[in-house]
Amino acid sequence: MEKLLISGGKKLRGSVRVSGAKNAALPIMASTILGHGTHKLRRVPNLRDVFTMGRLLEHLGAEFSLSDSTALINTEDIKGHEAPYDLVRTMRASVLVLGPLLARHGRARVSLPGGCAIGARPINLHLLGLQKMGALISLDKGYVNARTRRLRGANICFDIPTVTGTENLMMAATLAKGLTRLENAAREPEVIDLANALISAGARIEGAGESIIEIEGVKELNSLDYDIIPDRIEAGTFMAAAGITGGEIVMEGVNTEHIAAVVAKLQETGIKFQESEKGLVVRGPQHLRASDVKTMPYPGFPTDMQAQFMALMSVAEGTSVISETIFENRFMHVAELRRMGADINIEGSIATVKGVKSLKGAPVMATDLRASASLVVAALAARGETLIDRIYHLDRGYESIENKLRSLGARIERQKG
Ligand code: EPU
Repeated sequence: MEKLLISGGKKLRGSVRVSGAKNAALPIMASTILGHGTHKLRRVPNLRDVFTMGRLLEHLGAEFSLSDSTALINTEDIKGHEAPYDLVRTMRASVLVLGPLLARHGRARVSLPGGCAIGARPINLHLLGLQKMGALISLDKGYVNARTRRLRGANICFDIPTVTGTENLMMAATLAKGLTRLENAAREPEVIDLANALISAGARIEGAGESIIEIEGVKELNSLDYDIIPDRIEAGTFMAAAGITGGEIVMEGVNTEHIAAVVAKLQETGIKFQESEKGLVVRGPQHLRASDVKTMPYPGFPTDMQAQFMALMSVAEGTSVISETIFENRFMHVAELRRMGADINIEGSIATVKGVKSLKGAPVMATDLRASASLVVAALAARGETLIDRIYHLDRGYESIENKLRSLGARIERQKG
């Protein structure tokens, strides 16, 4: 198993370009099932999850290639309607093919994702919505079987704003008969990006980015030719890395609007931001200050940045209270940060972090994608060497992370297992 060896203590300096957003690329790739022909997607990150989605599309009968951040997907001959367990269990986002398959073929068989490291993550709201649109849904042998003659528009109110749930139903509704109204919809930039991609292919969608989205079904969609938005979580992770090392980096291609809540919070810790011609300049302070944070759906502080923020707080002056409100088990990084000397106490969904003077390198284990990112951030500032095991989690969501960090001066190397 591959590992990352990081010798901490080097201030990051230089420029880094943000890659395309994983969580926008995945639903947009799934949405190509809705239209025929060859789709061209640009700024697609070279990530394990993107290849898993590519394999899933191939399994369904599509052709997929990715080179120089451009994905070509031909969905002309899609005949399959099954997302097998082997692919779904390696990537929950595989469930995003459910809505498009049902809309295109009137049937879909998708393995039910199991629990995951960060929480139970049910998909009941996806299924309830599809049922409201007329799909007959049954479960057998761990698979969701869905059927319909043609989906019809419906009024759907989500109990909780769910990102992939909103995306699945929005995709399904594009080819449904009549109007679908999604209430309490997720407002994440990735939802807006999917809507924009679908609109560019002829879908009729209004309100993406607000909590009510209306979709008027159309008969068919054209192929896509679309640029994916930059990855706000990758951007936030590099901001945290610059901040914790007291370095100064220029981030190229960040969409600052998408990351406003993270920037505001990082400013409270003493990190400085300045827009420049080259990009967003991020400057870490000599001493970070503690600040409390609560994760919230967009436009609040993202759960996908909670772990990285905790790494920062572990060396800040003062005590920080971090509340995780989205997932019930998203503190897996705490035990690993403690191994590096962090002083963190957890009670339920609240972590209290007492900043220490410095962290010390240690062998640690990555447990999920963002937990791994927090260990990288911590290791960059720790004294001595940190060896991070199971970095395949990191490769799911960060494009060339060690090359990007090395270009900023970090001492980091990948060890083949
Ligand atoms: N929920 C339900 N029922 C459902 C769907 C969701 O109870 O049918 C609950 C979840 O258990 C959770 C809350 O609703 O408590 C919100 O979950 P959501 O459905 O929004 O999460 P998701 O769509 O499964 C996406 C991202 C995650 C990110 C979350 C929250 C993708 C592919 N994944 O997951 O990204 O953490 O939204 O912003 O877009 C990551 O990139 O590391 C990652 C985990």
